[in-house]
Amino acid sequence: MKPNVQHLTNLLPLGMRERADQALEAVDVLMQIRDPKVLRALGPAGVRGLVLHRGKQGVPTHMPASHSAYFDWTYPHDHSEMKALYERAKRGQWVSEQLPWDTSVDPLNPEVRLLPEKFFDYEPLRAMGIHLTAKEQMQFNHSLCAWTLSQFLHGEQGALFAAAQVTESVQFFDGKLYGATQVMDEGRHVEVFRKYLEEKMCRLYTINDNLFVIIDSLMTDPRWDMKFLGMQIMVEGLALGAFGTLYKGTQEPLLKNLLKMVILDEARHVHYGVLALKEHVAKELTQREKEEREDWAFEVALLMRNRFMAYEVYEEWFEGRMPRAVWRAYVTNVPGMREFREVMFSRLVPNLRDIGLMTPRILPRYEDAGLLQYIGGASAPELTGDQMLAELDGAA
Ligand SMILES: [Fe+2]
Ligand SMILES: [Fe+2]
Repeated sequence: MKPNVQHLTNLLPLGMRERADQALEAVDVLMQIRDPKVLRALGPAGVRGLVLHRGKQGVPTHMPASHSAYFDWTYPHDHSEMKALYERAKRGQWVSEQLPWDTSVDPLNPEVRLLPEKFFDYEPLRAMGIHLTAKEQMQFNHSLCAWTLSQFLHGEQGALFAAAQVTESVQFFDGKLYGATQVMDEGRHVEVFRKYLEEKMCRLYTINDNLFVIIDSLMTDPRWDMKFLGMQIMVEGLALGAFGTLYKGTQEPLLKNLLKMVILDEARHVHYGVLALKEHVAKELTQREKEEREDWAFEVALLMRNRFMAYEVYEEWFEGRMPRAVWRAYVTNVPGMREFREVMFSRLVPNLRDIGLMTPRILPRYEDAGLLQYIGGASAPELTGDQMLAELDGAA
């Protein structure tokens, strides 16, 4: 059915064709989710994000959140590893003022690149008759870097609210104390990304619709473990992939420093997510509930792999010069995006394995998606932030 629709849209005038592609893609995202329970969980958020573009209307968004706050008046010492993480998080606190904000950042300076030169391959663009001069290439780099950092900022806002929600609803008391440090961490991340965008990039892009969908579905899902799985494992995994790629590749010292500090914090967040979920999946969930989470995690992993296509940058640079579908194919295959997926999945897949959400039942689907190669890697509890940075530095 779909190829025919695609064929018909090719007959439309270009502007309408682009709008049709956008709508078809939204349908495609939802159609690709094969599991009805997963579709029920993601569907309403999908409509709000992909069809109504709620994140792009320039007005505050209200997301109704209903989860249950879990109080314990006996204040148990109930999780020694979470307690250790809390102690580490207290000592790991830092202030934004310690970053070298007086660094002068010129996004167009080819001597100090925001993104590595090999991030893009301009050859396919040239083959389409699109020639960017050296200056335009730097401007394009500036756009893409500002877009990426804007998505980080939007993701951090989601992480801030999600961290507050899970702190209320998690049942581990040591986890609540740890959660308080994460709320502070995420607040600081919002602060530093906002400051960098405002003062150094001088621009802010709207939230990507697919990121909006994930955040919306997590904020509005009443189940604390789904919030955990979504935010602490999937979105944090995505963030670590993206932060890691940029940390490795950027030559801009302030940005590198900033990302280093953020990565150290995020490594703790993922560690906490794995600890909390591992126990919950093993002890509390029924087989059916376990399978639902397993399917959900797989679908969201695919969404994250296939859907962050920087359309906002496309619209700024290439709308009218190439169709959205061609941009999608191009951007999916540029070397920087390949590396991002590599870093992201090498972190994410071992964490899902540790939590117990990669049983033999789902493995063939990961194999079909080409993601099984990452299963033997180190999970968050086996890897500190410093080790993670050393790995990124070693591979630079
Ligand atoms: Fe964060
Ligand atoms: Fe985080």
